[in-house]
Amino acid sequence: MEASVKGAAGQMTERPDNVPADRVFDFDIYRDVPEGLDFHQSWREIMRQAPHPLMWTPHNGGHWVALRSDLAETVMSDFERFSNHTVLVPKETAGEAYRLIPLSLDPPEHRPFRSLLNENLGPKPLRPIEQVVTDLAVSLIEGFRPKGRCNFTHEFAEQLPVRIFMRIVDLPVEDLPKLKHLADQYTRPDGSIPLDDVTKQFREYLRPVIEARRIKPGEDMISRMINGEVGGRPLTDIEAENICIQVLVGGLDTVVNMLGFTFSHLAKDHALRRAIAADPSLIDDALLEFFRRFPVVSSAREVLRDQEFEGVLLKAGDMVMAPTVVVAMDDARNEDPLEFRLGRKARQHSTFGKGSHTCPGAHLARMEMKVVLREWFARIPEFRIEDDAPLRYSNGIVGSVKPFVLEWPV
Ligand code: HEM
Repeated sequence: MEASVKGAAGQMTERPDNVPADRVFDFDIYRDVPEGLDFHQSWREIMRQAPHPLMWTPHNGGHWVALRSDLAETVMSDFERFSNHTVLVPKETAGEAYRLIPLSLDPPEHRPFRSLLNENLGPKPLRPIEQVVTDLAVSLIEGFRPKGRCNFTHEFAEQLPVRIFMRIVDLPVEDLPKLKHLADQYTRPDGSIPLDDVTKQFREYLRPVIEARRIKPGEDMISRMINGEVGGRPLTDIEAENICIQVLVGGLDTVVNMLGFTFSHLAKDHALRRAIAADPSLIDDALLEFFRRFPVVSSAREVLRDQEFEGVLLKAGDMVMAPTVVVAMDDARNEDPLEFRLGRKARQHSTFGKGSHTCPGAHLARMEMKVVLREWFARIPEFRIEDDAPLRYSNGIVGSVKPFVLEWPV
C-alpha cells in the first residue's frame, strides 16, 4: 500500500492504528459495479463477503463502511455520535466542498432550515404540480411512442423530474445541462471540474438569482426559502446560497436514477410488467416495493469523539459511510431481499434516510413516480430492453443504471 495521500480519490491511505488488519477491505464507492452484477446484487455480495459488519477501506481518504442495517441506521441518525458536518468522502475534497444546508448541520441548528424545506415540499404546496407532472409525462411519452423505442435515460428519466424541478424553483430549462453536470460532480465526479469549483460555479449561478428574488420575490420555492426566517432572523447570503445548492443537488439526481432502476427492472420482469399492465391498481403496492428494492444513496457521517462501536475504536474525525442499500438488503429486515415481491407483508428500508435528515423530497419523488407509472402503462404496457443488451451500473453517492434503450411493439 502506498504512503498516505489524504483525500485523493484513486489513491490509498495507510491503515491508521485504530483499524485492525482484518477490518480492511478493497472498496471504492466511485468504482463502477463489476460487469455481470447489478448495483444491488453487488452490495449484497459486499455485505456477504465482509468478515465484519463494520469494515474500513483505504480508498477515498480512508473511511469505515457500515454493512448491517442496524449499524447503518445508527450512523445515519445518532447525531450525538455521528455528525453531519461532513457527509461525503473523500473528506478533504468532496466532504469539504459539500458543506451545504441543511444536510451538513446537526440538530438543533438544523431544525429551522429544515422547516423551510418542509413548508415547500409537503403535499399541499405540491398539489398544483401534479397536473404539471402528468402533462409533461404524457407529452414526453407521446413524443417517442410511435417510434417504438427510446433511450429511456436520456429521453425520459433525465427529462421529467429535472424539468419539473426547474419549474418548482422557477429557473430556465436552458440552464439544465449546466446545473445537472455540476450536481453530478458531487455524487459521481468525472474529474471534469475540480470540486472546489463546483461549489463556486453553483454560487456564481445562484447569486444574481437570489439577489433578484430578494428584491422582487416570486411564488417559486427559491423565493419562499430565501425570504423565510431562521430563529426569527433572515438568512444570510451564504446560507441562502447553500440551501439553494442543496435543494438543486437533491432534486436533480435522485428521481432520475430511481426511474432508471424501476424501468430497467420492469423491462426484464415480464410477469410483474404484465400484472401491472393488466391491473394498474397494483401500481400503489409496486411503488412501495420499488422504493424498498432500489435504494440509491450512500452518504457518510463524521465521528464526533473517540468511541467504541461494533468492537472497534472509532476516532474523532473518522468518516463512516452508511449506505441506505444496506438496510433494504439485510435478511434480518426483508425476506429474500433481492426478490421484487408485490404484497410483501413487512417492508423495511431507509431509502429516504433515517433520523432528522430523512428526505424532505420524498413526497415529490413518490408523486412523480406514481404519475409516471400510471401514464406510461396507459400508453406503453409492453416493453423490453432493446436487443436484450446487458445493463451496466455505476456506484457513487447516488448509484445509477447507465443509459439504456427500451423498445416496444407499434
Ligand atoms: C427517489 C428519490 C429520492 C431519494 C431516494 C432521496 C434520498 C435521500 C436520502 C437518503 C437523504 C438523506 C441523506 C443523509 O441522511 O445523508 C435525502 C436528503 C435530502 N433530499 Fe432526498 N431523495 C430523493 C428525492 C429528493 C428530491 C426530489 C428532493 C428535492 C426536492 C430531495 C431533497 C433532499 C434534501 C434537501 C435533503 C437534505 C435534507 C436534510 O438535510 O434535512 N430529495 N434524500
